Amino acid sequence: MEQPLVILERQDRVALVTINRPEKLNALNTGVISALASLMEELNKDTYIRAIVLTGAGNKAFVAGADISEFSTFNAKEGYALAHQGQEQLFDRIALMDKPVIAAINGYALGGGLELAMACHFRYASTHAKMGLPEVTLGLIPGYGGTQRLPALVGSGLALEMMTSAQMIDADQAYAAGLVNKVVALDELVPAACAVGKKIAQNAPGAVAHALRAVRAGAGAQPGTPGYEVEKKAFSACFGTAEFTEGVGAFLAKRTPDF
Ligand code: COA
Repeated sequence: MEQPLVILERQDRVALVTINRPEKLNALNTGVISALASLMEELNKDTYIRAIVLTGAGNKAFVAGADISEFSTFNAKEGYALAHQGQEQLFDRIALMDKPVIAAINGYALGGGLELAMACHFRYASTHAKMGLPEVTLGLIPGYGGTQRLPALVGSGLALEMMTSAQMIDADQAYAAGLVNKVVALDELVPAACAVGKKIAQNAPGAVAHALRAVRAGAGAQPGTPGYEVEKKAFSACFGTAEFTEGVGAFLAKRTPDF
């Protein structure tokens, strides 16, 4: 029997959502994106649920990025549509939710995976987690809000270093930079995220929703503001270039790219 791409487990008023594609390190393909988007929509409307914890199946990855095999032949127009649809359908939807979504980063959070964690309201990580935006190794840039949310969270210096060097940071570095709020052992990660979710669930849900809205309004980078549009256009401009063909071709052929 085929496994569901997204698993929901209710722990009283906290919803635990697990992206379930461990054999591909939970890479975001269109199936995962649409299943996750529908579930988030449903949970946002569910008045019993007060907080959501989002994690990845297995002990290796939260999400290792957008599914590279799905966009390897895209041109600029298709690249723009990929970023636009993904931002609208999933990433902005999470960022605009009325209840906190907590990312429990249980391993690699790379590219679209880190962008997904950053669209959540805050993040906990396991000690072995690794985070990065390695898109330039593919001849691309982040397209799911990463150019906007990473500088807003850690400052432009570290964000630019991560985006241009493609180097990953570990959980302790992410904690020091304010990218994650807590670092715990892997087996304590989901319990710790659910525990804070349960604390949130004890508080006034309308007030919690207002707090989320107010913080969003004050934050420099919000969905719908010009930076996100600039990102989509710049992301789409990468498609069809020789760099893109080399970067993605090298990943799929399991060799080092030669730019
Ligand atoms: N898209 C599609 N498939 C992916 C993927 C992605 N972003 N990340 C991992 N996978 C797949 C691999 O192709 C492999 O599939 P296979 O077993 O059918 O060959 C499987 O997941 C396991 O990954 P593998 O590379 O063998 O694991 P590893 O431990 O050697 O390396 C990573 C782990 C995370 C370093 C490596 O998978 C990687 O670099 N992934 C891409 C990260 C990235 O560039 N993300 C941004 C995308 S925009």
